[in-house]
Parts: sequence; structure tokens; C-alpha cells
Amino acid sequence: MNGFGIDARSNLASTDKPLRPWTVLGIETSCDETAAAVVRGISPGPGEILSNVVFSQLEEHAPYGGVVPEIAARAHVEMADAVVAEALAKSGIDLGAVDAVAATAGPGLIGGVMVGLTTAKALALAADKPLIAVNHLEAHALTARLTEGVEFPFLLLLISGGHCQLMAVEGVGRFTLLGRTIDDAVGEAFDKTAKLLGLPYPGGPRIEVLAKEGRAKAVPLPRPLLGQASADFSFSGLKTAVRQAVQNGAGAADVAASFQLAVTDILGDRTRRAMQQFRQASPDCTHTLVVAGGVASNGAIRATLDALCHAEGFAIKIPPPRLCTDNAAMVAWAGVERGQLGLFDALGVTPRARWPLQDAPHGGSRTNGAS
Ligand code: KG4
Ligand code: ZN
Repeated sequence: MNGFGIDARSNLASTDKPLRPWTVLGIETSCDETAAAVVRGISPGPGEILSNVVFSQLEEHAPYGGVVPEIAARAHVEMADAVVAEALAKSGIDLGAVDAVAATAGPGLIGGVMVGLTTAKALALAADKPLIAVNHLEAHALTARLTEGVEFPFLLLLISGGHCQLMAVEGVGRFTLLGRTIDDAVGEAFDKTAKLLGLPYPGGPRIEVLAKEGRAKAVPLPRPLLGQASADFSFSGLKTAVRQAVQNGAGAADVAASFQLAVTDILGDRTRRAMQQFRQASPDCTHTLVVAGGVASNGAIRATLDALCHAEGFAIKIPPPRLCTDNAAMVAWAGVERGQLGLFDALGVTPRARWPLQDAPHGGSRTNGAS
């Protein structure tokens, strides 16, 4: 047991590798990407991405400045079959040759989750394959094992449009929450700031580009919770201050640069706090920070976290941007990891709009195949 009260051994020691790699079809539909992928590998990775198809619904949602759930669900219904067929075709693998079918079962927009999970159930039933219901956050968390075979335990900073969390990842389905946002997610803060500046959705990449032309110290902005003992985050006060600065006539580029610096300061400070907790709880392992979620593609944030890890003696692993934003390769990989532990789900498994990572079952419902 480690300081978090969790058995710190990975579920699968690297010496215990299953004899053969698994090939899993993964489906992701929890937000505004309809995605399917085929991945092959052995836990703890790295794995091989045989295909990774992402249909982005950006154009459908852009006029509304954010994701509209009903539009998303309809687009998933229209695209799911074609995206799955393309992923299988590109991989050169028949459905009959995969070891399991995995799909995001939550958390996310429920209409979309239902489409992806139901598609996976139908494929699993038709091809007599086991079904694996994947937690979307766990899929983000395990991506660094798909890309680099990062060993458990590691510290995870998950920064996306819907989530902002720091957690110790001890194994598949074994997470200890160290910090979380008490209001907005960091990607949401980027998107709302972009909207205030008249930039289209999604705002994060636009802010990053505009920030390069602005002065990061031009607009004074608060850094909520900086220096606090917990590793929690807060961004709503920052958003209010941005609104006031825009109303007072601050230039868009200066606001973008100042906002990005404030976010970077907050992420660095909160992560440093979580590193202290992680080091205390797991003094003897290699210390690694994994950064996941769409906001991890921000260059300024990456540079700050790089420097922080260097100063704190942590290795840093950030998957490439196309695997940081929502994709199905990460879902397929989570399927490889869960499947190799015998963690399958019954066809009656229900989609979940809310599904905190700490609730991700280690045991799931253990079955020996399609049931
Ligand atoms: O992980 P993701 O694709 O979807 C989920 O929320 O699960 O993350 C999307 C979020 C959006 O809020 C987007 O604005 C943000 O990631 N994002 C960025 C950048 N690229 C994407 N934020 C800041 N800088 C970026 N370069
Ligand atoms: Zn995501």
C-alpha cells in the first residue's frame, strides 16, 4: 500500500505480459467528435495504432459558439456507421478478427454516448466479441501508455473542455483525486474568453495564436487559489476579470496573452502542489507527470510544465496533439488494457452522463466474453 491507501502495484506487472497482443476496435462519441480506431498492443504499451478516424462536427456547432447536444447526437447517428467502417477498412482488420469492441460509456453528452455505446453493443453481439465500456477520462489518462508505455503510478494533469483534474494513477481503474476545478474547466475558460473576444469556437487554439501578438503583462488578471494548500483549481474569477477588461477597452491580443499567462501560472502552481502530495505518497517510484486533454496541445502551457518538471525532478510525457484531443485510439487502447485484465461488460451496461474517474470500477463486471 502507498500513502494514498491504494495497492501501488500496477494491475499487470510488466513481467506478467500476456503472450500475445490484443486488437481492439474503439468508438468515441461523447462530445463533438465521431471517432473510431483499431489499436493493437500489450499492456503497458506502447501500442500500435492501425487506424484512427475522427469526424469532427466543428462546422455544425460553430454558428452556435459551442457544442449543441441535440445537433451532436444527430450527427453521431448519421456518421457512426461510416466512421466505424472506415476505421476497420483502414486497419485492414475484419471485425471478426478483433479481440473486443470498446466504446466510451461516459461521462459526456448522453445522446452521443448512447449512439456510440449502442453501436458497440450491436457490433459485439453480431460478431460475438466481448464488449468493454470505457470511461472517457480513463481513456485520456491511459493514452501515455499507448504512446510511450508509461508505467504506473504516475501523476496525471487532465486539462480539457469538460475537465480539469490532478490525480495519481495507480493502475487501470485505480485513481486518487488530488485536485479538481471548483467551477469551470480550463478549456471552457479558454472557450469563454475567446467568445468574449469575438473568436470562433473552439477558442483555445485561437487564443494561443492571438496571444503571440500581445503583451502578457498588459492586463492585470487574478490567479484564483494560487498558493492554496489543496491542489484545486478555479477559473471563474478569471473569466469575470477578462469580461471587465474587454468592457474597459483592453486590446484583444493583450487580453489573450494575459489570460494565457494567468492560466499557465495557475496550472503550474496547482501541479507543483500535487507533485508534493504525489512524492510524499509514492517516494520510491520514478516520478512522471502525464498531461492529457485538448488543452495539453497549448505550447505555452507545455513549456511551463516542462520547466516545472525539470525543477521538481519529474519526467514529463505529453501525447501528440491529435491524441490529446478527443479520439478513438485512446478508447481502443483503454479496451486493450481492460480486456487483458479480463474486465469486460455485459451488453446491458448503461451509458452515463456523469462518471467520475474515482468510480471507474477496477473489477467491472467480469465475464469471459460476450454475454
Ligand atoms: O479533450 P478535448 O478535445 O475535449 C474534451 O473536452 O473532452 O478538449 C477540447 C478543449 C477545448 O476547450 C479547446 O478550446 C481546448 O481543448 N484546446 C486548447 C488548445 N487546443 C484545444 N486550449 C488551449 N490551447 C490550445 N492550443
Ligand atoms: Zn476528452
